[in-house]
Amino acid sequence: MPIEWRKGERQLHLHNDSISYVMRVLESGTLAHLYCGPRLASGHDYSHLVRSSFISRFNQVLDPIPMELPTAGSGDFRVPMLTVRHADGSTVLDLIYREHSITAGKPPLDGLPSTYVDDEAEAETVEIVLVDGHSSLKVRLLTTIYADRPVVTRSMRVTNDGTGDVKLTTAMSAALDLPDSDWHLLQLTGAWARETHIVDAPLVSGTRAVRSQRGSSGHHQNPFILLRRPSTTEAAGEAIGMSLVYSGNFLAQVEVDPYDTVRARIGFDPETIRWQITPGMDLQIPEAVLVWSDDGIGGVSDAYHRLYRERLATGSWRDKPRPVLLNSWEGVYFDFDEDTLVEMATAAKDLGAELFVLDDGWFGQRDDDTSSLGDWTVDLRKLPSGLPELVERVNELGLLFGLWIEPEMVNPRSRLFEEHAEWAVGFPGRPRSELRNQYVLDMSNIDVVDYLERVVGNVLNSAPISYVKWDMNRVITEPYGASLPPERQNEFFHRYMLGVYDLYARLTERFPDILFESCAGGGGRNDPGMLAFAPQAWTSDDTDAIERQRIQYGTSLVYPLVAMGAHVSDVPNHQVGRSTPLDTRAAVAFFGNLGYELDPRKLDDVEVERVQGQIAWYKERRQLLHTGRFHRLVSPFEGDRNETAWMTVADDGRHALVGWYRTLSRPMPGPSLLRLRGLDPGARYRVTIWPDADDWVTRANVMERGGDELMSQGLFLDDHAWESQARGDFQARIFELESLSE
Ligand code: DGJ
Repeated sequence: MPIEWRKGERQLHLHNDSISYVMRVLESGTLAHLYCGPRLASGHDYSHLVRSSFISRFNQVLDPIPMELPTAGSGDFRVPMLTVRHADGSTVLDLIYREHSITAGKPPLDGLPSTYVDDEAEAETVEIVLVDGHSSLKVRLLTTIYADRPVVTRSMRVTNDGTGDVKLTTAMSAALDLPDSDWHLLQLTGAWARETHIVDAPLVSGTRAVRSQRGSSGHHQNPFILLRRPSTTEAAGEAIGMSLVYSGNFLAQVEVDPYDTVRARIGFDPETIRWQITPGMDLQIPEAVLVWSDDGIGGVSDAYHRLYRERLATGSWRDKPRPVLLNSWEGVYFDFDEDTLVEMATAAKDLGAELFVLDDGWFGQRDDDTSSLGDWTVDLRKLPSGLPELVERVNELGLLFGLWIEPEMVNPRSRLFEEHAEWAVGFPGRPRSELRNQYVLDMSNIDVVDYLERVVGNVLNSAPISYVKWDMNRVITEPYGASLPPERQNEFFHRYMLGVYDLYARLTERFPDILFESCAGGGGRNDPGMLAFAPQAWTSDDTDAIERQRIQYGTSLVYPLVAMGAHVSDVPNHQVGRSTPLDTRAAVAFFGNLGYELDPRKLDDVEVERVQGQIAWYKERRQLLHTGRFHRLVSPFEGDRNETAWMTVADDGRHALVGWYRTLSRPMPGPSLLRLRGLDPGARYRVTIWPDADDWVTRANVMERGGDELMSQGLFLDDHAWESQARGDFQARIFELESLSE
C-alpha cells in the first residue's frame, strides 16, 4: 500500500520503492510536512521530524516548522501557499484537518490538464480536507504518489462553504519545506530565440523567484525549478524538481529563512491572478509535479520525460512515431501559391519527409503579418481551388498535410475585428498595445471560444488535415475581459487560460487523429499544460544549430525529446546569420522531433542526397531517440562553453546514440575522452560513426569496445590534433553503439 495512515500519530506516509513523502496532522490540527526524499521504512512514526523542540524567543511562532499547506497570519512568516481576504476584510486563515480519504488511481482536475493513470494500480491518491472554522473555507488537498515513478503530484480545490465572498490572494499548487538550505537552484531562463538557458546558483538567505506575468508561461522563464545539492552532478546526487502543469502566469519561488530552512513554492502568480469565490463556489488550482532523485539532475529529467511522455500527453499520437515534417515557414514565408506548395511537397517527399506543413499565410488576405488573423477562411488568391484540393494533391504524393493556426489572435485589419472589436483584450476607450500588429482575443469570453471552435472546426473539417501547429505570437497587455464584472478582473489571466484549455479540449476531442504541436513564437508557451493537449512543441524560433544545442539541452531538463520540435533550416541562418554544415544542423535536430524548414526546391543534388541520408538514418532510429533514456554529457553552459554532448540509450542498454558537438575549432587540442553513461558494463558494443568519414575520429573509434571502458574511459576525440583543428568550426558527430552480446 503506497499510502499508509497511522491513526495514532495522524501521519500519512506516501511511499514507493524509491521515495517517501510524509505529512502529519499536528495536535493543533495544522498539517505539517515531515519529509520528502529517499524511501523510508514503512510502519514507523516520523513525528519527531517536525522539530517541535525548537523554541524561538517567541515560541508561538511557527518558523521554522515545516508545513504542508502554509497560510499567512498565524505565525508562519515564510512565503505562503494560500492566502485570502475574507468578506470582513480579515486575512487570517487557519486550516484545520477535518478528514481524509485514500483512493486508488488519480482523479482528473476539473477544467485543467494534469498527469493521469491508465490503470488505477499505477498510483494512489490521498485527499485531505482542511477547513478554516471562522470562514468555513474548505480546501481539498490532493496528493498522489505513482507506484513506479519517483513522482508526487499536488493540487488543491478551494471551496467557499461560508456565507460571504472570499478572495484568494495567493494560490500555489505546492509548497515544499526542506530542513536545510545547502542547495543550488536551477532555472530555465531566456528570451525569444534563446529559450531555456540553464542558470544554476547556490541558495542564499532571502527569496529568489522565477515567474511570468505575460499571459503565457513565456520565453523568459519556464514553470520549473530544480534544487540540487552542491555536489550533485548530472549523474549522481540528490535533486528535486518542481514543475507546474499550467500555461499562464506563474510564480516559482524559493525562500531561505533566518534558520536556514527552505520553502519552495510553485503556482499561480499571486500578483496577477486572484480569484473571488462566492458562497457555494470553488476553484481548482493547477497541479504541481514533484520529482525526487538520487541519480542527479539526469535522474529528475528522466522521471519527467517518462511521465510527461506517457501520462501527461494524451491522444492517439501519444505512442506513435511522429512524422518527419517539412514546414513552409522559413522556406517561403508568406510568398506562395498552390503550385509553389505542391512543388515544395513533391521535393519534400523525395527527401523522405512524411508530413507537409503549410505555415502562416494561407488565410484571409495575409501577405505579411499586418492582417487577417481571425479570418480563418482560405485565401483564394493564393489557393484558388481551396484547401481540399491542395490537401488532396499533397496526400496524393504520399504525404500527410498539416496547417498553421493562431486562433487566440486578431489583426485590427481583419473582418473579425470589424465585426467584433469588443472581443479583443483591453479596456474600451483606452489605447491597446499592438504587438506584431495584432491584438489578443479575449479567451475568457465563452462567445469567443464558441466562435473559434466553430471556425477552426470548419477548417479542420474541410479536408483531411493530420497536423495542426497552434501558434500564439504575443504577450498579453492591458489585461481586461469585457465580459467580466469589475470584481472579477483579477481573474482575467486565469480565465484566459481556462478558455484556451477549453478550446484545446473541444478541438482535440472532435479531431482525435490530428497531431497538435503547440507554439508561441517558438518556446513562449512550452510547458506541461500545453503538452497535455499537444504532444509536441515548437521549441524555439531559433533554428541555428549552435543556438539550438543550448536551447535543447536546457529544454531537456524537463521535456522529452519527442516533444521537442527540431528543424534543419537554410544557411545563413535566418535568426543569427551563421552558416553551419548541413550535417551539423541535422546532428542537433536528430535529438528532438525532426523536421526541415527550408525550400527543398533550392537544394542542390549533393544536398538532396545528404538530406535523404539524414532522414533515412533518423527514421531507423527515432524510436530509440524518442523513448530511450537521455543523458546530458557535456554542458554548453559550463567550462569554455565550446562543446556539447548528450546521448540516448535504449532501456535494455543494447543500443545507444551519442551526439557530440564543438562550436569553434581550437588549435592543437590534446587527445580527449568523452565518457558515456547508461550502457551495460558487461556488454561489448560495436561503435560506428555518422556521418561516414575517412578520418581520425573514425579510425580511433570504429571498433568493438566494452560498455565498462566506454563509461570509465570513453570515446576518443582529437587523436589527430592537426586534423581536428583543420576540420573547422561547428563540428558534429554521432556515435552509434550496438551491443554484440547475446
Ligand atoms: C512564429 C512561429 O514560431 C514560427 O515558426 C512561424 O510559425 C511564425 N510564427 C508564423 O507567423
